[in-house]
Amino acid sequence: MKTILITGASSGIGLQSACSLGRLGHHLILTCRSEQRAHQTNLALTQAGIDGRRLRILVMDQADLTSVDRCCMTIMNSDDVISHIILNTGMQYAGLKKPLFSNQGYELTFAVNHLSHQLILMRLMSLWTKDHDLRVIITASDVHNPSSGGGRVGRAAGLGTMQGLRTTDSEPMVDGTTPFDPDKAYKDSKLCNVLLAKQLSTRLKTINPRIPVIAWSPGLVIPRSGEGFFRTSRQQNPLGMMLFAFFARDLLRVTESLKTAGQLLVDLTLDDKYNCAGFRYYSNQLVRPGLHQFEEISPSDEALDDSKARDLWDLCENLIEHSLNQRLETPFLENPSQEVSEKAAD
Ligand SMILES: NC(=O)c1ccc[n+]([C@@H]2O[C@H](COP(=O)([O-])OP(=O)(O)OC[C@H]3O[C@@H](n4cnc5c(N)ncnc54)[C@H](OP(=O)(O)O)[C@@H]3O)[C@@H](O)[C@H]2O)c1
Repeated sequence: MKTILITGASSGIGLQSACSLGRLGHHLILTCRSEQRAHQTNLALTQAGIDGRRLRILVMDQADLTSVDRCCMTIMNSDDVISHIILNTGMQYAGLKKPLFSNQGYELTFAVNHLSHQLILMRLMSLWTKDHDLRVIITASDVHNPSSGGGRVGRAAGLGTMQGLRTTDSEPMVDGTTPFDPDKAYKDSKLCNVLLAKQLSTRLKTINPRIPVIAWSPGLVIPRSGEGFFRTSRQQNPLGMMLFAFFARDLLRVTESLKTAGQLLVDLTLDDKYNCAGFRYYSNQLVRPGLHQFEEISPSDEALDDSKARDLWDLCENLIEHSLNQRLETPFLENPSQEVSEKAAD
């Protein structure tokens, strides 16, 4: 049985795959943004028949690097030997006019979708040895690619010279020049995710070159519930979102179901055919209405830029260290991350 760490498993694709992986008997370490979300997730998983003894749920608010750091410490201090890391958390707030910022003052989409995931990898990498079998999977999106269907709509992804990351001031966009645009901020964060996977595989070559590092795109998934990925868009523009969902999901049938997207993530985690060394990018491509094909494709040219991947890692590492060092200068109680699965089970 595997020990699988999943971020963003409290809803949507992550929750769907956690339920399936848990039912297969694997050990799960799930992170949730708050104690309340952790309790709800615990309940959802136990109701899905998952044995609570194979489940650890930790609080990790990915909008707060100190919370991410604390949670990583808890994982590192445990006896768990993680075989799979699934970095799946993702959010967007299309429709808002003004940028939102994380606890450390970074634009929220970038901070949650990318910066927090880099911190997790930076911390957990210290546990990996050349004998450690591991698979890393990062949920990105085809919108990182300006020539993909979704990537062509609105302002395209592009990090420019990453001027926005060369300062510790609160810059709303990574390129430091484009006016704030939440849709582009999301596309940029997904481009960062692919570059993160690329750079991780480069860094891992000296530790264990056999480790697969997979970035993937699930396709457009619009669940029927009011929760999940499009929640802000629904709040900002309920009618527009209702029409979009109706046309895309029900009429044109260009969306993927939550069930299949969750299963794709399960396959990427367990199937031997994805156990290829180094970086790969997979996409759930729309072939015709109602039919998708999951295959390895090339990500965008910018996502394949090795020097950009290296610079992005270095710039983000600086931002992370700057933020966490500042925290150490202020009085701070080092509480271990709360673990809620046992409490919830009482
Ligand atoms: N849906 C799509 O069409 C689509 C398309 C391409 C790629 N993706 C990617 O697929 C991944 C999963 O998305 P989804 O569709 O399953 O959306 P979802 O249902 O909204 O799931 C996103 C997950 O991220 C978590 N999250 C958000 N902010 C967080 C924070 N500050 N701290 C900790 N966790 C946080 C959410 O927690 P809460 O439950 O507490 O909010 C949830 O578990 C994302 O990376 C997304 O970018 C989605």
